[in-house]
Amino acid sequence: TPDSHVPRDARLIRLTGVHPFNVEPPLTALFKEGFLTSPELFYVRNHGAVPHVQDENVPNWEFSIEGMVANPIRITLKQLLSDYENVTCPITLVCAGNRRKEQNMIRKSKGFSWGPAGVSTALFTGVIMADVIRRAMPLRKARYVCMEGADKLPNGYYGTSVKLNWVMDPNRGIMLAHKMNGEPLMPDHGKPLRAVIPGQIGGRSVKWLKKLILTAEPSDNWYHIYDNRVLPTMVDPDESSRNPAWWKDDRYAIYDLSPNAATAQPAHDEQLVLADAPTMYMTRGYAYSGGGRRITRVEVSMDQGKTWRLANIEYAEDQYRKYEDKQLFGGRLDMDWRETSFCWCFWNLEISVAELREAKDVVVRAMDESMNIMPKEMYWSVLGMMNNPWFRIAIHKEN
Ligand code: MTE
Repeated sequence: TPDSHVPRDARLIRLTGVHPFNVEPPLTALFKEGFLTSPELFYVRNHGAVPHVQDENVPNWEFSIEGMVANPIRITLKQLLSDYENVTCPITLVCAGNRRKEQNMIRKSKGFSWGPAGVSTALFTGVIMADVIRRAMPLRKARYVCMEGADKLPNGYYGTSVKLNWVMDPNRGIMLAHKMNGEPLMPDHGKPLRAVIPGQIGGRSVKWLKKLILTAEPSDNWYHIYDNRVLPTMVDPDESSRNPAWWKDDRYAIYDLSPNAATAQPAHDEQLVLADAPTMYMTRGYAYSGGGRRITRVEVSMDQGKTWRLANIEYAEDQYRKYEDKQLFGGRLDMDWRETSFCWCFWNLEISVAELREAKDVVVRAMDESMNIMPKEMYWSVLGMMNNPWFRIAIHKEN
């Protein structure tokens, strides 16, 4: 395949054919890693071939800022890293297709079946995008930052856009990243340079980044328009192909993530031998939300949502406080990341084995600080994205 130069971990589960490479880690393996995912186990979403960048060419990687700016900039990676200060922050990336498999089981969408592991977390190190854009001097009418990668696809280079005022907001932590967990980016994750847009769907974090283009309108890139959208539920695959107007409405483009959660323990198809088990069983999983909004509660139901109990939550931010003193990973943690959350959390709740034996399923839902809550019902849409109804693990009994 065109990706024969790319090292890959055999544990990753392929979701599409041989090429391009789209994989999620097994959820239990992902969860066992703890808050930080090893880059080799991190989920991968590639639309095409991975650009081949040899190590010796990394410092000369060229990157530009153009469009509605008074002072266009053309800069090499080496220069970028010496001219601007580095920051490091724990950031969870999530594919908008995470949990799409559940939608496809109800009604086929135009997308492949992600399980609940289209999500991973790393300490990303890079320069703040706003610092670079400020030097390019945006014109007053500029409102969007379009980004373009180096991967040439059937419909042009991969590209998308976000609002300029988000990029300029220091609390949003939008960066040009070159390291994950202190190591240079792996080829699948954007070697040598990618955008990271915390709190938003992974599709906005353009890999193999070559260009920022400031514009007055959102990106007109094919992948910005025909990907990463939640169209109204009545638009079926036929209607969406017949009528391009559905795709051109930027109100349907996804930016911030919404609250979501999954159970890693028990896992789907996990066998529990309850006969000689202890009296209590620990259920565990992850939860995240978008836009820097912290998850404020995770609830578990053993009776299909009639009653709920509160799970314990562990926040990653509490763990990473220690990095502040140690100046690890070659960068300071300077955005006020204790106030915001760009990172998943883990939840756990002990349930008695007797209760588990009687229950039909374990159901979980999460809420964030804006009281956004995972809905009971699925919102089906043609791309099957942002699927976040209550997460359910069915319990089957064998005697
Ligand atoms: N950037 C480029 N250049 N090409 C791509 O195919 N895929 C996007 C985004 N950035 C993509 C890209 C999508 S849809 C997602 S979810 C994330 O990258 C995945 O990032 P990861 O593979 O590092 O997990």
